[in-house]
Amino acid sequence: MHKEEITREADLARVNELVAEYSQQKWALIPLLQEIQNEVGYIPPQFIPIIARALGLFPSQVQGVISFYTQLYTQPRGRKVVRVCRGTACHVRGGKTILKLVKQHLDLDEGETSPDLEYTLETVACIGVCALAPNIVVADHVHGHMNPRKVEQLFKNRKGGG
Ligand code: FES
Repeated sequence: MHKEEITREADLARVNELVAEYSQQKWALIPLLQEIQNEVGYIPPQFIPIIARALGLFPSQVQGVISFYTQLYTQPRGRKVVRVCRGTACHVRGGKTILKLVKQHLDLDEGETSPDLEYTLETVACIGVCALAPNIVVADHVHGHMNPRKVEQLFKNRKGGG
């Protein structure tokens, strides 16, 4: 069995546990969805009817809430989201090269998630710490003054997408 399949099975089992914990608590829909996403990285769509039944809601209500909140996802996301800043301050200080190197190390393009669900790569307009440009964010940690050596250190275990 592939590593990816094992991860997904474990994730699905965990979703089942969380759904059971919140059974018949309509108020708990958003906390439940957030908890599932925190632990699994996304909300597996096949669980929408199960979540709805457990909480006494319609699947369309659950789907509606997920669609409303842009930070809830029904596609697999990496446990670590990497955000490379493409704002002006970062751009003029080499942000484009940093993005190219991160793509190479992770073997991902913008918007993609690694097959082992470890990383998702995104770009952002500005993360608000322009003085530290160029910046990237890895799993909510800001890494400022990025250079090729720092990219190498951050992702050395992932070279070539391994
Ligand atoms: S432009 Fe990159 S942090 Fe502002």
